[in-house]
Amino acid sequence: MISRIDVMPVYLRSMEHDDLATISDIERRSYDFPWSHGVFRDCLLAGYNCIALERGNEVVGYGILSVAAGEAHILNLCVDPVFRSLGYGARILDEMLSRARYAEVKQVFLEVRPSNVNAITLYRKRGFHRIAKRPAYYQAREGREDAEVFSLKLEDAD
Ligand SMILES: CC(C)(COP(=O)(O)OP(=O)(O)OC[C@H]1O[C@@H](n2cnc3c(N)ncnc32)[C@H](O)[C@@H]1OP(=O)(O)O)[C@@H](O)C(=O)NCCC(=O)NCCS
Repeated sequence: MISRIDVMPVYLRSMEHDDLATISDIERRSYDFPWSHGVFRDCLLAGYNCIALERGNEVVGYGILSVAAGEAHILNLCVDPVFRSLGYGARILDEMLSRARYAEVKQVFLEVRPSNVNAITLYRKRGFHRIAKRPAYYQAREGREDAEVFSLKLEDAD
């Protein structure tokens, strides 16, 4: 895929409570079954690694990573549909992996819908491999959809 060019500066920082209205709006425009405002608030309260990507003065992407017992779980990764294909998703993912390394995590896990080709392409590019399937894991428009479980062993990564 050829990424679009963006000249606006962006930076990554920790998510704050004041970001949640913007983040919930991006979430609603991105997923058929979005997380509620309360789920994001609980992630902040739980002390998860909650990352916001700011472009200009505007939050346009976010990622949430939980870390425990030498393992990390990517719980969310999302970019505002208006600002996709600019490299932002990859930057947020790299920040989550860097935080996982800093926390001496050995293995990172995530679930993704098999239909989510863009996300799967990104995860594979960063070295994630499919390790399992969770049948009927996700709500879907009709019934349920399986989840693919992907994993990255950090000591094996670039
Ligand atoms: C997945 C997502 C975060 C990617 O964010 P993004 O900012 O558009 O991605 P980037 O511009 O950083 O692209 C990184 C890589 O992802 C892949 N990718 C992203 N969009 C793609 C597209 N439309 N077509 C093909 N590959 C794509 C490519 O490998 C790309 O690398 P490249 O530009 O070197 O080819 C974004 O599509 C999104 O928010 N989707 C909705 C939420 C979601 O499904 N999150 C994942 C939950 S598991």
